[in-house]
Amino acid sequence: MLNKANIVALAEKILGLKKEKKAIILAHNYQRLEVQDIADYVGDSIELSRKAMNEQEAELIVFAAVDFMAESAAILNPSKKVLLPSLGARCPMAQMLTVDEIKRWKVLYPLLPVVLYVNTLASAKAYCDVCCTSANAVEVIESLDAETVLFGPDRNLAEYVEKKTGKKIIPIPERGFCPTHLLFQPEDVQLLKAKHPNAVALVHPECSLEMREIADFVGSTSQMCRYARESSARTFVVATEEGLLHRLRKDNPDKQFILAYEGAVCPNMKLTTLEKLYAALKEEKHVVTVPDAVARQGRKALDRMFEITA
Ligand code: 13P
Ligand code: SF4
Repeated sequence: MLNKANIVALAEKILGLKKEKKAIILAHNYQRLEVQDIADYVGDSIELSRKAMNEQEAELIVFAAVDFMAESAAILNPSKKVLLPSLGARCPMAQMLTVDEIKRWKVLYPLLPVVLYVNTLASAKAYCDVCCTSANAVEVIESLDAETVLFGPDRNLAEYVEKKTGKKIIPIPERGFCPTHLLFQPEDVQLLKAKHPNAVALVHPECSLEMREIADFVGSTSQMCRYARESSARTFVVATEEGLLHRLRKDNPDKQFILAYEGAVCPNMKLTTLEKLYAALKEEKHVVTVPDAVARQGRKALDRMFEITA
């Protein structure tokens, strides 16, 4: 564990190397505080994808997040080297939907469009019609000329979109989930709201139906940031990974943010430490590569999402 002085020293070394190597650091909202603080840009999955896609200057993109996000960056900006500081930073939800599983559902429903949450591996994206994030899933599904859609891998997001759009959403696999967001329980929010009667509950759509039902606002991490900024409320109970609270507090120093469950940590997101970030930059590892054929197909699905949400 680094102390404050070590963090400052290491951060300086990273900034020096970053300049020397013409690198940019993109970090997800769930990253460790010190990683968020050193990043050039902190955002949700769609914001990070857009940033990676439009990056012109940098020669290296260091992606402080998990595997599927770095893969999307590599697909969207193939001329840049994309580095994932920790090879172990894999999203367990993304692992829940294999190519074989998608093929199985496509055989059962050959005429239905397949929409995949970006929390999927590139190999899976290559088998879908269009991607979405939690920020735009409703918009993407509404844009389709189909009343029934195959959607994966998050069952909770599927249910949320079904309710919002009135379309029939068939979840693939049947029970894909985020282990971190499933930790939130409505009872915890109720207890916190009893203590802070004017608090507003912000809930990520990966949470359970019971959690979404008691939410004042359901949205992606960056949608939560916008909501908190624009709201006149002073206190917020937040049901998403704890890293987001750093950004919320930084952006709104006069407001109070309480994590709805203290243990809500995504261990995979937290694998990226300053030490790993430094090693990744120094040794230019671990380079994220996506086979050409997979990247071409995945790009089509990502581009379609960008067109719909432009
Ligand atoms: P956001 O797109 O809201 O940042 O979500 C990504 C994610 O992994 C949520 O668990
Ligand atoms: Fe995956 Fe959940 Fe972690 Fe997001 S919070 S990266 S969905 S495991």
